[in-house]
Amino acid sequence: QKPGLELAVVSVPSYACQRHTPLLHHNITLTDALSILAENAELGENEGRGVAFRRAAALLKSLPQEVRGAEQLRGLPCLGEHSLRVIKEVLEDGVSLEVETTTHSEQFKAMKALTGIFGVGAKTADRWFREGIHTPSDLQRSGHTLNRAQRAGLQYYDELNLPVTKSEAVAIGQIVERAVHAVLPGAEITLIGGFRRGKQTGHDVDFLITHPDEGREEGLMPKVVSWLEAQGFLLYQKTTGNSYLESKEGPARPASNMDRFERCFSIFRLNPHTHSDSPHPLPQTLVVVAVRVDLVVSPYSQFAFALLGWTGSKLFERELRRWAVHEKAMTLSSHALYDRKRYLRASSEEEIFAHLGLEYIPPCDRNA
Ligand code: GTP
Ligand code: MN
Ligand code: MN
Repeated sequence: QKPGLELAVVSVPSYACQRHTPLLHHNITLTDALSILAENAELGENEGRGVAFRRAAALLKSLPQEVRGAEQLRGLPCLGEHSLRVIKEVLEDGVSLEVETTTHSEQFKAMKALTGIFGVGAKTADRWFREGIHTPSDLQRSGHTLNRAQRAGLQYYDELNLPVTKSEAVAIGQIVERAVHAVLPGAEITLIGGFRRGKQTGHDVDFLITHPDEGREEGLMPKVVSWLEAQGFLLYQKTTGNSYLESKEGPARPASNMDRFERCFSIFRLNPHTHSDSPHPLPQTLVVVAVRVDLVVSPYSQFAFALLGWTGSKLFERELRRWAVHEKAMTLSSHALYDRKRYLRASSEEEIFAHLGLEYIPPCDRNA
C-alpha cells in the first residue's frame, strides 16, 4: 500500500462536533494558512466565508496524520473549492500566494492591530482604517472619542496582547474563588473557555459560577464585582444583568445565539508575585499585569448547558447548534435544549451529547 492512501478510506464525519479535535494535531502549516484567510474574512465582515475556512481548518485538525499530497484529500468533507486550492498550493509550494498577500497587506495588519484593542470590533476598526488610522498610536493621536472599554483597551494594549499563561489563569482562579466565597459560600467556580480545553495560553480567562441551591446565584455578580473592586483587583469591568425569563415549561427559547446570563467582562490587575513563571520582567512593582477575565453566572439547572456553551471552541459550538437544528430538529443554547416544544433536562454535558445523539467529546477534543 502506498503511504498516505489510508486517509482517503477513513470516513470522516462532516460536523466538527462528531469528531475528536485535539489541541496538537498534524497539519499546522495548512491550518495556519486557512486561519489567516478565515480571520481576514471575519475582519471584512464576511462571516459565511470565514466559517467555510474555519470548517476546512477544523477538518484538517481532526485528521490522524499529516496530509502530504492532495490525493489524500479525496472523499473528505468540509473542503470547499477555495480551501482546497489553498491547501494544494501550500502542499506544492510551501506557501499560498493569497495567504502571503493577505498577511502583508496594510489593511489586514491595521485591522488586526485595531481589533486587538479591547472594545473595538471590525466595523469600528474599518471606519478608522478608512480615515487613515492604522495603529493604536494613530488612534491615540486622532483625538477620537472612545468609550470606556476602548479607553481601557488602549491603556492596557500591550499587556492585553500578551498571551495569558496557565499559571496566571490559576492565580486568577484563586482570586475569583475568594471573591465568590466571600459573598456566597457554597458557590461553585469552574474554569471554562480555552483553558478547560487544555490550552496552555489564552487571550483571556473564563469562569462559570453557580450554586447548588437554585436561586441563590441571583444577583451574585454585582456583589462579586464590588468585592473585587474593593480589593483593587479590577482595572475595568462591565457587568450585564440576567435578562432571563423562565416559563413553566423551562427556560425560554433562545431569541438568538446571544445568551442572557449575568456576566462580567473585565480586566484584572494581577500581582506578579502571586504566580511563579510570569513572562513579565522585573521590577515587578512597576509592572501592571492586566488580564482579560470573563465571568458568567448560571442557575444550577442550566449549568450543564452553560458549561457546554462556554467551553468552546467557537466553531465547535456553532457545529453543535447546526447539528441540533439540521440533523435533530432541536434548538440548543447555553441555557437549554429543546426538542420542538419539549425542554430536555440535563445535569451533565454527557447527557446533552446523548440527547443530541452524539458520541461524547471531552473538552480536550473540542479544539475545532
Ligand atoms: P481564548 O480566550 O482566545 O484562549 O479562546 P476561548 O475559546 O476561551 O475563546 P473565548 O474566551 O472568546 O470564548 C470562550 C467560549 O465562550 C467560546 O466557546 C465562545 O463561543 C463562548 N462565548 C463567548 N462569548 C459568548 C457570548 O456572548 N455568549 C455565549 N453563549 N457564548 C459566548
Ligand atoms: Mn477565553
Ligand atoms: Mn472569553
